[in-house]
Amino acid sequence: MTSKALLAATALVAITLSLPATAAELTVGFSQIGSESGWRAAETSVSKTEATKRKVTLKIADAQQKQENQIKAIRSFIAQSVDAIFLAPVVSSGWDAVLKEAKEAKIPVVLLDRDIDPSGKELYLTAVTSDSVHEGAVAGEWLAKAVSGKACNVVELQGTVGASVATNRKKGFDSVVAKNANLKVVRSQTGDFTRAKGKEVMESFIKAEGGGKNICAVYAHNDDMMVGAIQAMKEAGLKPGKEILTVSIDAVPDIFKAMAAGEANATVELTPNMAGPALDAIAAFKGKGTVPPKWIQTESKLYTAADDPQKIYDSKKGLGY
Ligand code: AHR
Repeated sequence: MTSKALLAATALVAITLSLPATAAELTVGFSQIGSESGWRAAETSVSKTEATKRKVTLKIADAQQKQENQIKAIRSFIAQSVDAIFLAPVVSSGWDAVLKEAKEAKIPVVLLDRDIDPSGKELYLTAVTSDSVHEGAVAGEWLAKAVSGKACNVVELQGTVGASVATNRKKGFDSVVAKNANLKVVRSQTGDFTRAKGKEVMESFIKAEGGGKNICAVYAHNDDMMVGAIQAMKEAGLKPGKEILTVSIDAVPDIFKAMAAGEANATVELTPNMAGPALDAIAAFKGKGTVPPKWIQTESKLYTAADDPQKIYDSKKGLGY
């Protein structure tokens, strides 16, 4: 072997030794938003299960809905020299500085379930998310079909202001409204993805809309807000699912319970398993240098009362929601 070839071989051995051979050797820091919804609780729980399956050490930091806490958590993960950072960004803007720090430290970042502004595109390795514009469009198309041309005043419960999924779910739904002159969004306000806020905002919508008489349908950016809205409608003497149609997003067990009781009509599923594909992408990247696609898209499936909601409730209720 020439001295050049020997040098190259030695370098290769050194690189190979510094790379974790399997996922089992990896430590991943996950900056989670908080626990605002049943879906979020399930995502945290499924992430732990997926990490355990692969023997990955997963360190989860709960940001309690605050971006400043997420930024602190990312800096702490960088200081600990973790192998990768997972980030579920509460809002889409304001990440560039801290993600540049991660990039300088050569720690790959994976976005989970929400996106960031295009200025940060080069600062993360991949994003595991659904197509949230499509989710809004699926919800809108279900409603357009359900009312089949009849005039329908819709009230909308938006997610967290500034979150990519809130912006996109609105955009997707609005695109269907724009094509159907019979659909009109008469009120739209944030319920911050929580059950309590969904109920509170729905109460104000009911008051403002003739005790609910002028409302034909509720569109909520997540099921938790819808569960709160259903409660508000029932307390106002209205019949959700019958007098007022409902369509929301997530497919959490409680919405199937409401569907089985005839109090909800449709939901678009968002898988809580974002971590599984993210962990596989990181293991391949760290192990063999395989660069994943920039977007790992998860499925968005529509469920209605015709899908045996009691059976789905039974199958989902133990999954950490
Ligand atoms: O980013 C995903 C959204 O965040 C879920 O639809 C909602 O329930 C959660 O709070």
